[in-house]
Amino acid sequence: MSDASVMQRPILQVIPSRAADAEAYARWCDVQSVSAPTATDSASLCLDALGLGLLMPGEQRVFRLSQHRPARRQRGAKLSELGRACGIQHGPRQILDACAGFGADALTLAALGAEVVCIEANLIVWLLLRDFTDGLLRGPVCWGSSYRMLSGDQDWCCDSPESLHGFDAQETSLAVTATTRWDVIYLDPMFPPSTKSALPNQGLQHLRQLVTSTGPEVEAWLAAALPRARDRVVVKRRRKDPVLAKPTFQISGKTVRFDVYQI
Ligand SMILES: C[S@@+](CC[C@H](N)C(=O)[O-])C[C@H]1O[C@@H](n2cnc3c(N)ncnc32)[C@H](O)[C@@H]1O
Repeated sequence: MSDASVMQRPILQVIPSRAADAEAYARWCDVQSVSAPTATDSASLCLDALGLGLLMPGEQRVFRLSQHRPARRQRGAKLSELGRACGIQHGPRQILDACAGFGADALTLAALGAEVVCIEANLIVWLLLRDFTDGLLRGPVCWGSSYRMLSGDQDWCCDSPESLHGFDAQETSLAVTATTRWDVIYLDPMFPPSTKSALPNQGLQHLRQLVTSTGPEVEAWLAAALPRARDRVVVKRRRKDPVLAKPTFQISGKTVRFDVYQI
């Protein structure tokens, strides 16, 4: 299995007025002072008056997660398939979002009242996610391999929530260790590229370009997650993907479905 958490330090382009804020990122990024964000050969980050953004290779235009607008998501989240699959209707839940990506699903679940712990293996994705969700979730946002953590590897964590204390300004009582259990574990690994011609939204297009690791097979991930869930493991699949292990039940949307494995 290739591990998505091992990657080069990205460049962080910083405009002079944000130089002091950039120090907090020096641990993970090569900080470069610029007068304005500039196109680069590989994906890089930039910190300017509008916050932390992403510059995809060769692109001048900065992509920002704030374009996803969480307020709209909150309204739309009420009856979502994801919420029902995670059993939100049964009361407050602690949920591990093991493949956090840009946090759309985590924010939906948090908007429905869940305490969400996020783990993301890709360094650039994690830095953007952590900046964007600061204060919006009720749990930590960790950089590391959730698969290794769920498999019981004590050294799974590239950066623990404790080490971010003071930067995230987000206190948390939720532990994330190689033995922690959650009410719900949510798995949303990358789908293989589709042969359909319709392009996914811009965030997902960027995710596909940034995340090159294949990651573990979904079956292995599910097997690692089941003993660590108190109530259920939820796996997001394409609507027409084959069923892996027989789920307790399924909830289907227009293009995706959620396979729910109750404990
Ligand atoms: C399809 S995206 C998730 C999208 C997310 N649910 C959202 O709403 O934005 C899958 C994510 O899982 C991450 N990932 C892959 N392997 C991982 C691992 N072992 N541990 C944690 N995250 C991983 C990828 O880097 C990618 O960002």
